[in-house]
Amino acid sequence: MNKEKSILKKIWDELYLSLKVSGHPYHIFSVSSIYNNKPDARNVVLRSVDKKNQIISFHTDSRSKKILHIKENNNVCALFYDFPKKTQLRMHGTASIVNDEDLIYERWEKSEKMSKLCYLNKYAPGSKLDNPKDYLQDNGSLNNIDSGIDNFLVVNININIIDWLSLDHKGHERIIINISDKENTIYNWSAP
Ligand SMILES: Cc1cc2nc3c(=O)[nH]c(=O)nc-3n(C[C@H](O)[C@H](O)[C@H](O)COP(=O)(O)O)c2cc1C
Repeated sequence: MNKEKSILKKIWDELYLSLKVSGHPYHIFSVSSIYNNKPDARNVVLRSVDKKNQIISFHTDSRSKKILHIKENNNVCALFYDFPKKTQLRMHGTASIVNDEDLIYERWEKSEKMSKLCYLNKYAPGSKLDNPKDYLQDNGSLNNIDSGIDNFLVVNININIIDWLSLDHKGHERIIINISDKENTIYNWSAP
């Protein structure tokens, strides 16, 4: 396998690894979006990786601003940084809201109680509050945690371009890998 292909293989391998290894640097990544021509970004948890279909996913609240952004403009960028390995991944792609109800249910069922509780919050993320904890669930809704599924979404990001940067005191290396055509991956070395 040539160097370019082994870099791409390593990228997917590390993403998969991050789903299993606690504290892996790729567990949390930043998703940026554009709304009203203005950029925005936030950290999310990487929830799934599908190399064959070139998809990564995260979970979110249907009431959150990022959903509005994605609906207006589905172009997003997913940014990862592996501090120990000094590797940055910038993945450009398009976001879509998953509507496969079986998959949504499966993801919900597998979620930790702590994660589920976030979806019971009384107010949408970003709502103005009089007091910092006013958003918290009522005791009533705590008796029915699974009602939170109504606010629970799975968002897929279809990756088109991976911009990989490796920092090294002997010389940094950067390669831009265009995977939009599954039959014809294009590798371009780039100045860092
Ligand atoms: C470490 C960390 C992990 C987070 N994971 C998620 C996540 O998986 N999904 C999510 O919607 N928000 C997550 N958040 C909160 C978001 O960063 C953000 O504050 C929230 O989703 C509202 O963003 P929005 O207004 O852009 O929609 C996380 C925040 C941090 C600090």
